[in-house]
Amino acid sequence: MSFSWSPKDNKSCNNPPAATGFKRSRNDIGNKVTVVLGAQWGDEGKGKVVDMLATEADLVCRCQGGNNAGHTVVVDGKEYDFHLLPSGIINSKSTSLIGNGVVIHLPGLFEEGDKNEKKGLKGWDKRLIVSDRAHLVFDFHQVVDGLQETQRQAQEGKNIGTTKKGIGPTYSSKASRTGLRVCDLMGDFKDFSARFKNLVQQYQSMYPALTVDAEDQLKKLKEYAERLRPMVRDGVYYMYEALHGSQKKILVEGANAALLDIDFGTYPFVTSSNCTVGGACTGLGIPPLNIGDVFGVSKAYTTRVGIGAFPTEQLNAVGELLQTRGHEVGVTTGRKRRCGWLDLVILKYAHMINGFTAIALTKLDILDVLDEIKVGVAYKINGKRVPHFPANLEVLQKVEVEYETFPGWKTDTAAARKWNDLPPKAQNYIRFIENHIGVPIKWVGVGKSRECMIQMF
Ligand code: GDP
Ligand code: IMO
Ligand code: MG
Repeated sequence: MSFSWSPKDNKSCNNPPAATGFKRSRNDIGNKVTVVLGAQWGDEGKGKVVDMLATEADLVCRCQGGNNAGHTVVVDGKEYDFHLLPSGIINSKSTSLIGNGVVIHLPGLFEEGDKNEKKGLKGWDKRLIVSDRAHLVFDFHQVVDGLQETQRQAQEGKNIGTTKKGIGPTYSSKASRTGLRVCDLMGDFKDFSARFKNLVQQYQSMYPALTVDAEDQLKKLKEYAERLRPMVRDGVYYMYEALHGSQKKILVEGANAALLDIDFGTYPFVTSSNCTVGGACTGLGIPPLNIGDVFGVSKAYTTRVGIGAFPTEQLNAVGELLQTRGHEVGVTTGRKRRCGWLDLVILKYAHMINGFTAIALTKLDILDVLDEIKVGVAYKINGKRVPHFPANLEVLQKVEVEYETFPGWKTDTAAARKWNDLPPKAQNYIRFIENHIGVPIKWVGVGKSRECMIQMF
C-alpha cells in the first residue's frame, strides 16, 4: 500500500541551527513525520492503519499513553495485539521507538514482547528503542488505579471505567514530579531504590490499604533494568538524528483518541495524556514543523469503552447489531464496547484540533446489512444548534442529535478492493462524510486484514 511520504526538505541539514539568527529557512526542516491519530473514543483501527503504512516505514514511534492501548493487527490470518509496542514492530525492516511521552510498565512490555514472539514475531527486542525520559509505571500504580476507581464509585456512585493499567496514577506522579524515569533506572540503583521507596510511602499515606513489598519490587526491577538497558537511548537525540540524517520514512502511532485526550476529551471520562497532534511533539521531542501528514482514523460508526457522554449511542437493536457484527469488545479489558451512529460533530471537533490531512474510515463492512444508516450532523440545545463541541458534560449529556438518514446498501463489501467495487449507496455515504468534515477520505476499511483497505487516492 503506497502513499506519498513527505520528502526530506534539505540534504545538508546535519548542522545545528546557525548561531547568527533564529529564523531558519524552511529548507532546514529535515524529514517530516506522518502521524496516525484516533478521531473518536479509541479502537478506530489505528493498529491496522499503522501496520499498512509501516510496511514502508523506517521508524515507527509511540508518543503517549501506555498499555491502556490495544491495537489489533491481522497479517496472514494471524492476529496480533499490541499495547505498548508500536504496531510497526511487526515489520522486521523498521525500527520502533517508545518516546518520552509514553508511560512504561516493564513487566507488561516484556510479557507483550514474549507473547508475540511465540506467535512468530522474531527479534522485536533488537528493533526496539526506548527513550530514557519515559516514565515508569509500577505495579503499585496499577493497584492505586483500582483503588481510585473504587473510591470514585463510593463517592460519586460511578467510576471512569479505566483500564486499571496505572496510567492516571503514573501521569500524576510525573506531573507532581515524584515519578521515576527510565534514565533513573539506568543510573545508580541505590538512588533509584531510595526514590522508589519514597514514592511508595507517599502513595501509602494516601491509600492506607495499599501494601507494597518494596524489596521484592526492586529485585524484579533490577532484572528488568538489565533486559531494558540495550534498548535505551536519549530519545530527543535519536529523533533529531532520524529527522536530520538521511531521508527516512517516520511514522507516529497515536494511542487512545481525540475524545479521550486529557485536555480536549470528554473530561473527566478521559485518559491522562494528550492523544491529539500536540502529543506527537511533546511525546517525542520533535518540532511542530516536522509534522507532515496527520491521518485521522474513524470507524464508519462510533464506539466507546467505559463511562461518559456518548450522544449518538444506540441502546437498542442497532447498537446490539453493531456490537456483535463489529466484534466490539475491548482488546485490553475484554469489555463490550458501547455502539452508536457515526457522529460528525466529534469528527469535526477532532479535525479542529488535529488538522487532519486525510481520514481512514474503517469498518464500513459492518454497516452492510442495515436497512438505513444514520449520521449525527449537529447538536441542538433547546432546539438551537450548538456551533461548538460542549466542554461541560452535563450539557453534552443533554444535547439532542440532528441526524441525516441514508438508505443502506445491503451488499457485502468485504471483497471490495477499489472505489468502483463499492455499491453507489456506500459511495454516497463516504462522500457525504468527507464533504461534511471537509477532509478527504483516503482509505476505506472493509475487513480486518491488511489487504481489506481501499485506497482512494
Ligand atoms: P485501535 O485501538 O484503534 O488500533 O483499534 P482496535 O484494534 O482496538 O479495534 C479495531 C478492531 O477493528 C480490531 O479488531 C481490528 O481488527 C478491526 N478492524 C479494523 N479495521 C477494520 C475494518 O475495516 N473492518 C472490520 N470488519 N474490522 C476492522
Ligand atoms: P486504543 O489505543 C478505548 C479509555 C478507558 C477509560 C478511559 C480512561 O486501543 O484506542 P485509562 O486506563 O487510560 O486511565 O482509562 O479511557 N481508554 C480507551 N478506550 N481505546 C483505548 O486505546 C483506550 N485507552 C483508554 O476505557 O474509559
Ligand atoms: Mg484499541
